[in-house]
Amino acid sequence: MRKIRFASIYLFTLAILFFVFGAYTEWNTISLMKFKPLGYPKYLHLIFFLAGFLALCAIYFAEKMEVKVLSSMNTALQEEIALRNQTEKALRKSEDKNKRIYSKAKRAEQIYRSLLHSSADAISTYDLKGRTVYISPAFTKIFGWALEEMEGKRMPFVPQSESESTMAIIRDLVENGTPCQGLETKRYTKDGRLLDVSISASRYNDHEGNPIGILLILRDISEKKRLEAQLQYIERMEAIGTLAGGIAHDFNNLMMGMLGNISLILYDIGTESPYYEKLKNIEKLIQSGSKLTSQLLGYARKGKYEVRPISLNQLVKESSVTFGRTRKDIVIYKELAEDLSSVMADGAQIQQVLMNLFINSADAMPRGGDLFLKTMNVTHEDIGDKPYKPKSGDYILLKVKDTGMGMDQKTMDRIFEPFFTTKELGQGSGLGLASVYGIIKGHGGYIDVESKKGQGAIFNIYLPASEKPIRKTSKISGRIMKGNETILLVDDEALVIDVGVQLLGKLGYTVIEAKSGRDAIRIFKEQNHTIDMLILDMVMPNMGGGEVFDQIKRIDPKVKVLLSSGYSVNGEATEILKRGCEGFIQKPFSMEDLSKKIREVLNRSSKSTHDST
Ligand SMILES: Nc1ncnc2c1ncn2[C@@H]1O[C@H](COP(=O)(O)OP(=O)(O)OP(=O)(O)O)[C@@H](O)[C@H]1O
Ligand SMILES: [Mg+2]
Repeated sequence: MRKIRFASIYLFTLAILFFVFGAYTEWNTISLMKFKPLGYPKYLHLIFFLAGFLALCAIYFAEKMEVKVLSSMNTALQEEIALRNQTEKALRKSEDKNKRIYSKAKRAEQIYRSLLHSSADAISTYDLKGRTVYISPAFTKIFGWALEEMEGKRMPFVPQSESESTMAIIRDLVENGTPCQGLETKRYTKDGRLLDVSISASRYNDHEGNPIGILLILRDISEKKRLEAQLQYIERMEAIGTLAGGIAHDFNNLMMGMLGNISLILYDIGTESPYYEKLKNIEKLIQSGSKLTSQLLGYARKGKYEVRPISLNQLVKESSVTFGRTRKDIVIYKELAEDLSSVMADGAQIQQVLMNLFINSADAMPRGGDLFLKTMNVTHEDIGDKPYKPKSGDYILLKVKDTGMGMDQKTMDRIFEPFFTTKELGQGSGLGLASVYGIIKGHGGYIDVESKKGQGAIFNIYLPASEKPIRKTSKISGRIMKGNETILLVDDEALVIDVGVQLLGKLGYTVIEAKSGRDAIRIFKEQNHTIDMLILDMVMPNMGGGEVFDQIKRIDPKVKVLLSSGYSVNGEATEILKRGCEGFIQKPFSMEDLSKKIREVLNRSSKSTHDST
């Protein structure tokens, strides 16, 4: 460009020279007409002038052209610059956008990462072939496997029993993208524990929408399941308790009528009668009938009436003597701790426990054997290596050991289940140990068993020790105890009143009847000076035994009261006993039971006199 410009300037100068020279000579020619400097041809100067003029024109046009070219080049350049600026701007804009997208993605990644890390649920992802891609810290915490050891491998945590259903769900998820939510199943941990889990699973895709893997969220619901099972168990207990309680009341009143009448007949006919044995058998059957309801109540942790500090040693001694009479081929060894603490318990229920255990041992030793009974004081620290964790505190331990046929692990796992029995039909109801378990639990205790097939069995029972002194009840000897006091018999059941009056009459007492709580209060107000004792039914319509007791005690605080019931709500009898009531008798009772209970209560009174037959 510069060269062209130099050439133009050069040419322009030349053209000017030509033009000036041509013009000068022409002008001289015209003006002087005499000057002919070099004698060159005529009109040469005109040619010079024209050539110079043309050259000037050419230069002018060339310049013009150049300006035009330059300006068009300039425009193009400007356009290019503008384009560049635009591109640069766009680039910057897209860079900003990318930066924003990147930081957004980074933030999202951070959020997801902290979500995955902080989730209490276990999270894991797999490729479509089931190979592990990611596992969260919670996954490692719950199941034990870490990402380093499992990356690219299949997770070996599906139990055999769940593999088919799991495969079906995964197939549906991978092929059709059907997500699953809250599927309750089981999974193994690295150390072989089987957990209850709830699984939610979904398929995830790449940026183009193609499926590339699956994501699992696993929640450990073992604790929830355990609580659910516990709740169901409690509900079942409640239902059985309500049912048993419902029938126990009416059933035991009926039994009371039957047992009372049998007692009266037995008393009248004496042991020489040919019917004596048969009637005795009926008496036993009635007692086993009512035992069934108390077994059910025991299982349902109900039927705990008279809770007081008792001596387990004394109960063991008494029950083992009674039991020993029935099986002479069994030798009973006792090792009872002399300083054994008392336990707050319902004596009748603990007796039920002992008898159930003794009878089971006897059944396991059909050809005789040894029964070892041991009691001792222990603390929770001594109760080690058990399937339960005892609460801290002092306990008393009762060990019942036999040399019977023992049992295998499978039997042992089920013995506390209600209605589980290995005995032949009609030989066992399978309620014995279920009620033992319920009663011990109802008393805040623990029970476990050790046994091997052919090697006998040991039942360990732990009951919370109490510091309360054992209340000495006067020891009643003899079979039927008579008396001559006046007793107010209060019961809404005509059947019970009827038989009760006769039983008490035979025992030598003067009886006044009251068919309701209100009747009882009215009669007591009128005749309280002659009444020595009340036999008071607990469950009566309108006014229950508890209320009657309170009113009667207000009239005469010294009056003795023996509570009686076929069934009462847990704790109700204990409450009345705590308020100063002297005793409790469970219906149905025989003449013998009644006679002893009355004496136990009345013996605390100086007015009483009695003799035994
Ligand atoms: N001391 C023992 N030795 C061997 N097996 C026992 C012993 N105690 C219990 N079992 C087993 O436990 C099962 C359940 O006992 P449980 O007392 O609950 O019912 P049962 O004795 O069969 O019937 P029920 O007590 O209602 O008459 C028994 O059938 C028996 O197989
Ligand atoms: Mg049994």
